[in-house]
Amino acid sequence: MVRHLAWVLMSASAVSTTAVSIAPYVHHQNASESIQDSYMVKFKSNYTLQNHLSHVGLNIALLGDDYYSLDILPGYHIKVNESVLQNIIRSDSGVEWVEATSVAHMPNLLPAETERNTMKRWQAAVEDLAPPDLVMQSSAEKMSLPTADGFWYWNESGSGVDIYILDSGIKIHHPEFESRASNFRGWHHTPYLNASHSTMEDADSHGTCVASLAGGKALGIAKRANIINLKVGSGRGAPLSAVVKALNDVRDTHNTKKQNQDRPSRFAGSVINMSLFGSDRSLALEIAIQEVLRAGIPVVVSAGNEDKDAVNAIPCNIRGTVCVASVDRRYRKASFSNYGPNIALSAPGETVMCAGYLGDEFGVTFQRGTSLSAAYVTGTLANFISYEKLQSNTDLVMRRMRDNWDVGYLEDFPAVPASPNTFNNNGFRKHNKLQTQPYVGAPHSPHLRR
Ligand SMILES: *[C@@H]1O[C@H](CO)[C@@H](O)[C@H](O)[C@H]1NC(C)=O
Ligand SMILES: *[C@@H]1O[C@H](CO)[C@@H](O)[C@H](O)[C@H]1NC(C)=O
Ligand SMILES: *[C@@H]1O[C@H](CO)[C@@H](O)[C@H](O)[C@H]1NC(C)=O
Ligand SMILES: *[C@@H]1O[C@H](CO)[C@@H](O)[C@H](O)[C@H]1NC(C)=O
Ligand SMILES: *[C@@H]1O[C@H](CO)[C@@H](O)[C@H](O)[C@H]1NC(C)=O
Ligand SMILES: *[C@@H]1O[C@H](CO)[C@@H](O)[C@H](O)[C@H]1NC(C)=O
Repeated sequence: MVRHLAWVLMSASAVSTTAVSIAPYVHHQNASESIQDSYMVKFKSNYTLQNHLSHVGLNIALLGDDYYSLDILPGYHIKVNESVLQNIIRSDSGVEWVEATSVAHMPNLLPAETERNTMKRWQAAVEDLAPPDLVMQSSAEKMSLPTADGFWYWNESGSGVDIYILDSGIKIHHPEFESRASNFRGWHHTPYLNASHSTMEDADSHGTCVASLAGGKALGIAKRANIINLKVGSGRGAPLSAVVKALNDVRDTHNTKKQNQDRPSRFAGSVINMSLFGSDRSLALEIAIQEVLRAGIPVVVSAGNEDKDAVNAIPCNIRGTVCVASVDRRYRKASFSNYGPNIALSAPGETVMCAGYLGDEFGVTFQRGTSLSAAYVTGTLANFISYEKLQSNTDLVMRRMRDNWDVGYLEDFPAVPASPNTFNNNGFRKHNKLQTQPYVGAPHSPHLRR
């Protein structure tokens, strides 16, 4: 057998030195895209495998591996070495060409930015006797004096969305979070702080309160969102380096989840709610924020509680952040709230009910501050992100926010410097009798009645 083969090779190489033509060789421009030694051979028309075999002098399959017929060409596939390819296969004048087999990449299955073309059945939900501050944010009109009433929302609001709470820690086991709250990457200690402050637990109840307004089951806007505890500070504050590192880590996790979309995944996107204040410019923080925005993660921040122009408030004044001021239940500026052109919109923040605890007892508490307003807006953005899986497009999230907020309701803001007269709304507006969309801009789809 070996001798016979040697003869074949010799006779073939004799052919190749005298042959007038050798079949063209087709290959991918990028050689590393080609599979080693793997070729597809096409016959000229009216040339058959039998003709080829008589040229070769033996069963072609014995010259290499992985032989199989490709009748559609017609021709065949085989793995052979260079010498067999040149001296036997390409030297047959009945072969039209030989193509090196290249790798076809499977594109990642990316979810549509908006599911505009798919009919998504959705269901309305109403929370009866919801806190008045929540009621105001799904209302179709300016309310004269909000009381506990129905809060309307898409029943899966926030599902698949990771709300990152960069704060002083959260009590993740508070019943308001059901089982939707967790520590970032399962950490028990934050790597961003000194050991004495390093447990992920809430240091001063601030984080727990605010997180419940973004995603709490009774007190929050996005009632199905994941709440992710990312502790970057203690009561005293957070080193900016810790915040920048945390933003870096959030961006990495978000990008990883986006890339894993070819596996079954309910990941819809992320929002960052950041609690920190400064008055000195930080180039590192500006870059970190631009990078998370570019990755598709909106950043919601509060205006600050000093009753002054937020012109120097960091990160309120960083381009691209959604900076939120506070109003009371009559849409009047909260006495403490900062204001001015850096504000994007306002939300309730004057004595709001939120999750709290006394000792080990879970319960509710009443708080005030622009942090609370920022959390409501965080929940609202999570609502839009979840419905449309807006995981890469912060511009579109901003458009949904603007298309759904209420204009002209606010009172008692200083005339100079002027603040935008815009109030947070999840877009549901039950009285508008929207039958096909849970908010303005959402893909039209059939509405299942409650
Ligand atoms: C060639 O293909 C390899 C493997 O797919 C890839 O990593 C590389 O970037 C490509 N080079 C060019 C110049 O396209
Ligand atoms: C193929 O063979 C048939 C019959 O032998 C002949 O009529 C035809 O012209 C040939 N076609 C080519 C392209 O050689
Ligand atoms: C190529 O493959 C043939 C058939 O398997 C073998 O006889 C020959 O020695 C190989 N040539 C080289 C250079 O590997
Ligand atoms: C929301 O409504 C849909 C459609 O009726 C239902 O399949 C789904 O289970 C509901 N989700 C929740 C959290 O109730
Ligand atoms: C860690 O603790 C030291 C000493 O108390 C303090 O000076 C330093 O600022 C702390 N660093 C951080 C990141 O909190
Ligand atoms: C959300 O961000 C605001 C503004 O920076 C902050 O005051 C508030 O504490 C944050 N909420 C949480 C739960 O971190």
